[in-house]
Amino acid sequence: MSKVRLGIVGLGNMGATHAANILAGKVPRLELTAVADADPTKAARFPQAKTFVDTDAMIASGLIDALVIATPHFSHTTLGIKALQAGLHVMVEKPISVHKADAERLIAAYTNKRQVFAAMFNQRTDHYYLKIRELIRSGELGEVRRVNWIITNWFRTETYYDSGGWRATWAGEGGGVLLNQSPHNLDLFQWIFGMPQRVRAHCKFGRYHDIEVEDDVTAYVELPNGATGVFITSTGEAPGTNRLEIAAERGKVVYENDRLAFTRNKVPMSKFSRTATTGFAQPETENVPLAVTDHGGQHLEILQNFTAAILDGVPLVSPAVEGIHSVELANAMLLSAWTNETITLPLDGKRYERLLLEKIAGSTRKKKTVVNSNAGDDFAKSFAR
Ligand SMILES: NC(=O)c1ccc[n+]([C@@H]2O[C@H](COP(=O)([O-])OP(=O)(O)OC[C@H]3O[C@@H](n4cnc5c(N)ncnc54)[C@H](O)[C@@H]3O)[C@@H](O)[C@H]2O)c1
Repeated sequence: MSKVRLGIVGLGNMGATHAANILAGKVPRLELTAVADADPTKAARFPQAKTFVDTDAMIASGLIDALVIATPHFSHTTLGIKALQAGLHVMVEKPISVHKADAERLIAAYTNKRQVFAAMFNQRTDHYYLKIRELIRSGELGEVRRVNWIITNWFRTETYYDSGGWRATWAGEGGGVLLNQSPHNLDLFQWIFGMPQRVRAHCKFGRYHDIEVEDDVTAYVELPNGATGVFITSTGEAPGTNRLEIAAERGKVVYENDRLAFTRNKVPMSKFSRTATTGFAQPETENVPLAVTDHGGQHLEILQNFTAAILDGVPLVSPAVEGIHSVELANAMLLSAWTNETITLPLDGKRYERLLLEKIAGSTRKKKTVVNSNAGDDFAKSFAR
């Protein structure tokens, strides 16, 4: 096989962007041969490919080797299982599922490891995050003691929430900012620092928008080595912030406004504290230049990597099986807010699913009139960094 024949299901904001990029030849060796959408007008915009309303028919068509799933979240699990069982390579949009039990069901369907099963965590290609991860993995930063991440540059308007009937509802989306925008950051958090052991979160539901799900979150987490973290996210604050600050034995790293600053302690801070002979002494520091200037290839790079994994067997940048971690973190934060408890991980996925189903059953919120108001928006501008 010299090319991968791709199908895309879901041709809204994200799926249509993927389709247009592939048709423009931006992902060599990836060929768009079929598209499917429950709304036939969406698929009709891509006459270069065979169009389907019935995704099962596209999966069974023999026209595709691989499938990108860019539909609303709940269907990631069901469509993903069908596509994996049909022997297709699969790329699922984030989040891989709405809740942990569904993510486990999806991953359980991935039995043939010759298939490639990836997730669209495009921010893993960002050179700033790659550098931060390298500083930690290489031991250059020393043991992490504290992480503060304020990631509030996901501002969304009421019009955005009104643009899809599934958005910002328990039944349609299974959550708010934690399930839609911040899965990227939760994925990066666990990818860089590992999974927390304990989570305590405060979520505000409909604080800034007329929605039933969370649009404002403040979470405290503890990592296995005792490091603590605060993760703050919102879709209601403007101007927003993306500031990641890491305090570690060998110094401090701050990432904000496309600038990565590393202030290195010449002596690790705990060692200095134990050995200094005067009470107010401070470790000597030096600024370490870090030559990072760009955000990497993002979605195109993940699609390229998916294609190369299928054709050449290269390792995936974002394997879908790792997507369960950001789902688990999002679920833990919501569960903590719902129950007023500190959640110890691993999360009880069955309990979470039960409580989410209760939220869905108990939802009385009527969605406002759905308008296709994103039509004139530049969707690429919505990818916060
Ligand atoms: N990686 C990223 O940066 C990024 C950015 C935006 C959205 N996303 C993800 O992409 C997915 C879609 O988001 P969006 O903003 O494009 O949504 P959207 O509402 O704009 O589009 C969803 C499309 O799916 C279709 N659809 C719904 N259910 C379907 C089904 N069962 N079968 C076939 N078609 C179906 C709808 O008709 C619609 O055209 C979500 O998972 C979202 O989290 C990822």
